[in-house]
Amino acid sequence: MATAQQLKALLQSYSEADGEMFVSVALQIAAHEARAGKGKIASEIKKLVDEIKDKQRKSKLGGSVPISRPSGDLAGLLSASYPHTKLTEMILAPEQRKSLELVIWEYRQQAKLHEHGLFARRKLLLVGPPGVGKTMTSWALAGELKLPLFTIQFHSLITKFMGETAAKLFAIFESMQHTRGVYLFDEFDAIGSMRSGSNDVGEIRRVLNSFLQFLEQDESDSIIVAATNLEEMLDEALFRRFDDVIRYRLPEQSDLGDLIANRLASFKINKTQIKRMAVLASGLSHAEICRACDEAAKVAVLNDLSKIDPNDLEHAIEIRLERSQAKK
Ligand SMILES: Nc1ncnc2c1ncn2[C@@H]1O[C@H](COP(=O)(O)OP(=O)(O)O)[C@@H](O)[C@H]1O
Ligand SMILES: [Mg+2]
Repeated sequence: MATAQQLKALLQSYSEADGEMFVSVALQIAAHEARAGKGKIASEIKKLVDEIKDKQRKSKLGGSVPISRPSGDLAGLLSASYPHTKLTEMILAPEQRKSLELVIWEYRQQAKLHEHGLFARRKLLLVGPPGVGKTMTSWALAGELKLPLFTIQFHSLITKFMGETAAKLFAIFESMQHTRGVYLFDEFDAIGSMRSGSNDVGEIRRVLNSFLQFLEQDESDSIIVAATNLEEMLDEALFRRFDDVIRYRLPEQSDLGDLIANRLASFKINKTQIKRMAVLASGLSHAEICRACDEAAKVAVLNDLSKIDPNDLEHAIEIRLERSQAKK
């Protein structure tokens, strides 16, 4: 049996994502078992360790166990998550789906592409109004490719680290080299809108230029996603640095019906009602319609009903329509 000390060291290395330490403690345990005359279990442990080492090499995680948490300098910059979202959970326009499927397909076969001096597309710009699935897309890419998702809120990056943003950006791009993942630069428009404003123009321009330079030089195996609500803020110089620009739009009539049916799949609601609600909800974003569905679902759950009352859904949709009209 492994000693309590060994177990503790093993857990500690796991918690600190220290792959080398993890492997070395595991080997110590194998040696300990061998010394105790338990050759069989020792060789079984050794075999498992070899498999882990092999996986570490293949995933190029630089010796870390496949769980990584930003530490040190990066701790306040990146937030890590491990989504299980699939692309099939998303309602997308055909051309959007095609573009994203292509990203996944190429990425899964990047070794094959590399052999021929070719590269998978992995620098993506997502453009579209709020609530249409840009952030969710980065979850789906991470989920499909089994990569961790690292999110950088551009706005807080710039405001929090005014004056040293470029250095922070450098640290983020550095980490892409050794920790493979999907890196989402969310609220990317922060850069665009601040650039056109009067204050701190110099700093914002420097940040944007650094970002573009790092993006262009990046040769990592990570996927870089920048998401923005404001197409008009972004210029040609920016567009051309990405491998693909994917455009998002508000859901169409049929999308709305699919969204409602998906979101309320575990409840009873008839098809005619779904159609009627989809017509009613025209103009709402995916996010708004999902929230309206959740509200109607909550009423059903709290009243122990398996059926959605169409009036509840209608009411929730109308409130959101009024709100979005008021904004315009
Ligand atoms: N295309 C979509 N398909 C399915 N659900 C969506 C879609 N877009 C948004 N949603 C729902 O709305 C939520 C918020 O969307 P989000 O991805 O944050 O939008 P954005 O980043 O474009 O503002 C998602 O978590 C999901 O529940
Ligand atoms: Mg978003």
